Amino acid sequence: MQFISINEAIKTGSGKVAIRGWVYRERGSNVIKFIVLRDSSNVIQCVLEKNKFSDEEWKKIDKTSIESSLEIEGNIVKDERAPSGYEIKVDKVNIIQIAEKFPITKDASPEFLLDVRHLALRSRNLSAVMKIRSTVMNAFREFYYKQGYYEMAPPIITPNACEGKMTLFEVKYYKNKTYLTQSWQLYAEAAIFALEKLFCISPCFRAEKSRTSRHLSEFWMAEMECVWMGLDDLAKSAGECVEYIVQEVVKNNSDELKLLGQDIEKLKKIRMPFPRITYTEALELLKEKEGIKIKWGKDLRTVEEDLITKHFDKPVIVTNYPKEIMAFYKPRDPRDSKTALCFDMLAPESYGEIIGGSQRDINIEELKKALKEQGEKIENYEWYLDTRRYGSVPHSGYGLGVERVVSWLCKLDSIRDAIPFPRTMVRWKP
Ligand code: 4AD
Ligand code: MG
Repeated sequence: MQFISINEAIKTGSGKVAIRGWVYRERGSNVIKFIVLRDSSNVIQCVLEKNKFSDEEWKKIDKTSIESSLEIEGNIVKDERAPSGYEIKVDKVNIIQIAEKFPITKDASPEFLLDVRHLALRSRNLSAVMKIRSTVMNAFREFYYKQGYYEMAPPIITPNACEGKMTLFEVKYYKNKTYLTQSWQLYAEAAIFALEKLFCISPCFRAEKSRTSRHLSEFWMAEMECVWMGLDDLAKSAGECVEYIVQEVVKNNSDELKLLGQDIEKLKKIRMPFPRITYTEALELLKEKEGIKIKWGKDLRTVEEDLITKHFDKPVIVTNYPKEIMAFYKPRDPRDSKTALCFDMLAPESYGEIIGGSQRDINIEELKKALKEQGEKIENYEWYLDTRRYGSVPHSGYGLGVERVVSWLCKLDSIRDAIPFPRTMVRWKP
């Protein structure tokens, strides 16, 4: 018989089916055994009665432990009491491997689960998160691809910082010192002169020296860069893309969202337009509604971001942060020169900054000044400054933190569960 997935078997609903997978739960007596079998699609209860098997077969069946792998054939029938509403009365079984005692038990601590992440990945919750993550990445790609953007592969090993020297990971590169990329941005700004509209989804690295539920040392950023684009169109594109991602997850992952305890109706309401305020207005909101006074010019910390997003049930776009605390490439706003033409998008429910983006400074003297102020050597950035020397044009781009979005959509407690093998200050294994 041809093997089908558990979900396909459930859809079939009756008659003979053949499925294969791993033992998720097992219990039984010396005459009957109940095995809940798991594959990537679902779980299903399988009932094995001793009188259908030879003594030798039954000995093996009796030994099937959690995570043993097997193939089975049998009749699928409706059963309200079974976990997925169906069960299979097994006629034939082929045991592929009897698993050793699985080290993960119900009361495993979060740290232990991270130590055995290569096994913990099989859990239903993490599997659900990884399916949603796959939808998020595909939706970002699809959104820009449909609009005529090209996907560009950025280098991972770079000679420059993009987001400040403090979080660079050094890499010994033969006899030279290089770094792991913090963002594709500087390379995208070079490549748009050839292809105009670009996107990428790529790993980024930051030596974040704090333990938070929002920071990874290795994370994935989905970025876009586009010529002839200003801040307003950029923020609009970011909003539309986030709306598209959320609605694709709603459409494709309702089972996973339910399993994770996420409210689907709430996500359905994540539709454009998203509220948009300036940094200065954000400070006013904090003062008036939260009684918190922040000095103009200070960056917003996590706690303050959370107090702002509390007042919105959609992602909120905060523009015009103080120029002095921004990365060197963010230009002054000519209408408000203390601020930069930039925005962050903050997710609801304390999931923090999911997007950072800006128009790009095309004034070469301003760029040099900002680089110097940040303690950078101009000669290291000469190649980048060339992009302002040969046919420079206005352009903009943003980066979306894939794990931040996945954390938000999956209602996760920690960003570590938004990536299969998390890397943080204290964790680089397995
Ligand atoms: O705001 P950031 O630093 O912006 C940039 O890197 C720009 N060069 C992007 C661009 O314009 N092309 O980072 C962008 C996003 C953040 O909003 C956040 O969602 C995520 O990347 N991010 C992290 N996610 C997990 N762990 C970290 N350590 C992160 N640092 C940034
Ligand atoms: Mg940022």
